[in-house]
Amino acid sequence: MTCILKIDSSVRTYTSDTAKHQSVSRQLAHNFMTEYLVENPDSIIINRDLSLTPPPFIDQAWVAASFAKEDITERELSVLQVSDTLVAEVIKADLIVMSAPMYNYGMPAVLKAWFDQVIRVNKTFSFDASLGDNALQPLLSGKTMVLLTSCGEHSFAAGQARAHMNHLGPHIKMLSRYLGVEDFYEVGSEYQEFSDERHANSVQHAQQKIASIVAQL
Ligand SMILES: Cc1cc2nc3c(=O)[nH]c(=O)nc-3n(C[C@H](O)[C@H](O)[C@H](O)COP(=O)(O)O)c2cc1C
Repeated sequence: MTCILKIDSSVRTYTSDTAKHQSVSRQLAHNFMTEYLVENPDSIIINRDLSLTPPPFIDQAWVAASFAKEDITERELSVLQVSDTLVAEVIKADLIVMSAPMYNYGMPAVLKAWFDQVIRVNKTFSFDASLGDNALQPLLSGKTMVLLTSCGEHSFAAGQARAHMNHLGPHIKMLSRYLGVEDFYEVGSEYQEFSDERHANSVQHAQQKIASIVAQL
């Protein structure tokens, strides 16, 4: 039985009606879930809608509490409460299905806030200065992530004209290592701002890729 942690982060919603301004990244995640659940109907799902319930930004008290070694105080425990809940969800998950729009060439602030809450010393990674350049090591392993993205512009894939401006997929892929992700799949849709045939083709191509990932998992 697979435990799926589904994370959505677009400010736009996705519903089954065909109104304009629906979230493309949420739609792709919905498509992935629908197809995956046909093959794996007994999966457990944890839903995290970061736009509806944004995680708080970390602050000085959070950093102090997360690095506290012994005798953690009641106050420190309460500062880490949200983080503890979110980390527990990551630990439980075998598969993380994450939808993310491109905002200002990177991820939405709510998603970065989530990563800041869940990438935590002695919970999801260890720090051992004696290891020199490899001081940070993931503590979790064996997880799969499927990332579903949408961009307004285009040509962000490796080797294309705007690859150097893409701080969305590459950033999330790098961070996912510290959540124990060993198998990473990305499905991207582009041209949303143009709403033309190129966008329709891009979404269709993304849907084909979703089907092939579901067949592999
Ligand atoms: C605040 C904001 C910033 C955006 N920044 C970019 C950007 O830097 N590059 C880009 O290609 N598209 C950008 N877009 C367009 C979105 O990536 C596009 O609308 C995408 O479909 C959003 O995902 P969604 O449909 O799941 O909401 C931006 C949109 C918004 C609302």
